[in-house]
Amino acid sequence: MDSIHDVSPVSGLTHAFYRYPARFSPSFARITISLFTERNDIVYDPFMGGGTTLVEAMQLGRRSIGTDLNTLAVFVSRAKTSMYTDEDISAIWAWVMEAQSDLVLNKTPNRPIDWISQGYQRNISGRTTWPIRKSLEIAIASLNSLANVKQQNFVRCLLLKTAQWAVDCRKYHPSARDFRKQLLIHAEEMIEGALLLRKEVELIRNGLPDNNSFTPVCLHLSAHEILYPSNYSFSSAPKLILTSPPYPGVHVLYHRWQVNGAKETPAPYWIADCLDGNGASFYTFGDRKYRNLETYFDNMRKCYSALSAIGDKNTWLVQLVAFSSPEWQLPLFLQILQECNFQEMLLDDAPNTIDGRLWRTVPNRKFYADKRGKTASSKEVLLIHRRS
Ligand SMILES: C[S@@+](CC[C@H](N)C(=O)[O-])C[C@H]1O[C@@H](n2cnc3c(N)ncnc32)[C@H](O)[C@@H]1O
Repeated sequence: MDSIHDVSPVSGLTHAFYRYPARFSPSFARITISLFTERNDIVYDPFMGGGTTLVEAMQLGRRSIGTDLNTLAVFVSRAKTSMYTDEDISAIWAWVMEAQSDLVLNKTPNRPIDWISQGYQRNISGRTTWPIRKSLEIAIASLNSLANVKQQNFVRCLLLKTAQWAVDCRKYHPSARDFRKQLLIHAEEMIEGALLLRKEVELIRNGLPDNNSFTPVCLHLSAHEILYPSNYSFSSAPKLILTSPPYPGVHVLYHRWQVNGAKETPAPYWIADCLDGNGASFYTFGDRKYRNLETYFDNMRKCYSALSAIGDKNTWLVQLVAFSSPEWQLPLFLQILQECNFQEMLLDDAPNTIDGRLWRTVPNRKFYADKRGKTASSKEVLLIHRRS
């Protein structure tokens, strides 16, 4: 219960690698995984987002897998769950040091013409944002000095984090000099997190056979595609499906940063070297303007029938969900889960529950409901189900 109401900033291990929208609190993921699973069990997050579940599963010695149809989520989750060797860290640190003298505006980088022509630099070449854009161009052009893709992706993630800090939802944008300074601060923080995670995983691996790996599998798939053995074949049914799906009727910007108020940029994809090209509704189970959220509930049904099919009678489904209009959306959401053979477990005896469920207020919510003034989406409910 304490972990449900945990409002401390998302940090520790590699959690601060990127501020993925609508993330779990790591302590909620940690407690849930420890309560519902044992060492070596499989934990699956079908809508993994920034990979909070996977990082926590890893440090607890659980095998884990995550899927997401957002390439950015897959990129971030892989960067957060990779094991970095001392050699990797030295190379990354050397790159960061070099960048301190390299990222200067009198340089002329080769412009990434392909990305520009496809609009990935939209809204980041304004009067106050162009120094950040140019610093990023110089930095990305120098990535080939790193020996392997793992190191390059760590640095891309560092650039992503620092560019998000510099551009997203800010009134004033920092100078190129401040960007460099922040890059250094973020690099120290990320390296410390990566080393800590490695230490935890090494501790937990101790004594287990070499081939026993807790490195999560992060797949770029829609959750309903997990059903196909050609995509992934489970060695046994997952013991726990721990997740936050897209929220009914709630608008979350998973794939854009907001520059100068309402302007949006797809620049995160250019920085992470992955493709977007899909509108917001692609990442939220459909457009919230559809009557009765029909596409949302159709997509939900499709994904949860697949989750039901890969589970067995020992599989738990634990979710945090928010609704723009809980009064009609929650009953429909629960009905679909029941149709997919998930049976709800209510916490009838627990203190402070309303309707047998735990509700929590979400701090600093950046998304909003479909009707102005409605605040329901700033509350999340914990739903616990068992595959029947
Ligand atoms: C609320 S976020 C998950 C956040 C995550 N719990 C974390 O801690 O970062 C929901 C995610 O679902 C993903 N998503 C939406 N539709 C999907 C689908 N059909 N299959 C897989 N992922 C999907 C979105 O891209 C988004 O990353």
